[in-house]
Amino acid sequence: MGALYRFGVSLEKELIDEFDAHVRERNYPNRSEAIRDLIRQELTKREWATGGVVAGAVVMTYDHHKRELVNKLLDVQHDYQDCIISTQHVHLDHHHCLEIIAVRGNARDIERLAGSIKSYMGVKQVSMSLSMAGE
Ligand code: NI
Repeated sequence: MGALYRFGVSLEKELIDEFDAHVRERNYPNRSEAIRDLIRQELTKREWATGGVVAGAVVMTYDHHKRELVNKLLDVQHDYQDCIISTQHVHLDHHHCLEIIAVRGNARDIERLAGSIKSYMGVKQVSMSLSMAGE
């Protein structure tokens, strides 16, 4: 094992409570081990996903009352129209929306699209389910 580095992370109370429940359920000895595991999973996912053409879905939930958020989400989807096949929108409640974006294209482009979406205030969660698309 290489040198160990420490870093601080700030989280909302609800999120850390849920994370601690996850740590207990999975029998991790501590938060650090659980975070290491999450980081490894993400890096592995990125590694295989950046190899070529992928197809799948980008799924997000957001608060549509956040200022300018809907326009930003529309703009970014137009920027990535080459890899977006279709979008499904579900109104979850008065504030929240679920959007499922079907994608097919270069894995790096789709990662960039998801990264932009994640960066907007009001976006609660973004996840991707991608498969190799052949070729
Ligand atoms: Ni909606």
